[in-house]
Amino acid sequence: MTTPSTAAVVTGCSSGIGRAVALRLAAAGYPVYATARRVDTLADLADAGLPTLPLDVDDEASMVAAVDRVVADHGAVGVLVNNAGFALQGTVEETSLDDVRRQFETNVFGLVRLTQLVLPGMRDQGFGRVVNIGSMGGRFTFPGGGFYHASKHALEAVSDALRLEVEAFGVRVSLVQPGPVRSAFADTAVRSIGEGDGPYAQFRRDLARRYSAAYERGATTWAISPDEVAKVVVEAVHSRRPRPRYAVGVVARSLLAARRVAPDRVWDGLVRAQWPTPGGRQSRRRSSAA
Ligand SMILES: NC(=O)c1ccc[n+]([C@@H]2O[C@H](COP(=O)([O-])OP(=O)(O)OC[C@H]3O[C@@H](n4cnc5c(N)ncnc54)[C@H](OP(=O)(O)O)[C@@H]3O)[C@@H](O)[C@H]2O)c1
Repeated sequence: MTTPSTAAVVTGCSSGIGRAVALRLAAAGYPVYATARRVDTLADLADAGLPTLPLDVDDEASMVAAVDRVVADHGAVGVLVNNAGFALQGTVEETSLDDVRRQFETNVFGLVRLTQLVLPGMRDQGFGRVVNIGSMGGRFTFPGGGFYHASKHALEAVSDALRLEVEAFGVRVSLVQPGPVRSAFADTAVRSIGEGDGPYAQFRRDLARRYSAAYERGATTWAISPDEVAKVVVEAVHSRRPRPRYAVGVVARSLLAARRVAPDRVWDGLVRAQWPTPGGRQSRRRSSAA
């Protein structure tokens, strides 16, 4: 019997979690293909000896080409880390549906399509690991984050279904649920909030401020490093019996636990106390101080 391929494809390696995962998997001995939509962002990973490939999860042709290349080199993709993603922020009322579609195209549809492309090879060789980078926000949501969190809620359902659909073929599926991680993520999210007038103008300003604060370096926040997530991803890939879910970081573990037990109105109260809402306590405090 031939040894199954353990060649790993990691999406979104230009920065943050994807980059850290690529480096950690390579250090653990996996043949790693680091991918990004702009391959020039991977120059240092290429210098470190990792093969790099262009891969945009919004672009079918680029996904097919990347998978074909790994299949040509190794026979199959053995490990897929679906990491590429971003957070659209904005209120339900004001966010354009085009933006919502883009959010789902990248975070959900692209991930699903790439998974579909690698599964035949994994099934044929009777081995595969799929690790989806979800979020603690796959289990709850904050105002202003409805669509990003909806995309991560979708990954919860897709991962749960897929896990049982492919286990008989030797393919294991895990979902990683980080809390705040210091990467390019927060800047991208804050940029998506936008500016302007209207009924949510103060909320948008409060949201941008709160978001940035949650990711600042320093003793007052609990944001973790991309490498802490990468360690957990490698554990999921490496384990003979990976867990369905891995919550990463103290924020994710404590908020997920709180959400499991708190009734909706209690949860809403916790969110109001910690996160801006239109006309909420944080906004009122600010305007009375002004
Ligand atoms: N940071 C957090 O607090 C946090 C918490 C929970 C979950 N997550 C999840 O972790 C994952 C990685 O985020 P991160 O923190 O490492 O953020 P990041 O530093 O912004 O990295 C995001 C990566 O995704 C890539 N990407 C975006 N759209 C893409 C597309 N269409 N095709 C291919 N790649 C694309 C980005 O590439 P470009 O450089 O080309 O934009 C970048 O490489 C995301 O799925 C995110 O939702 C992050």
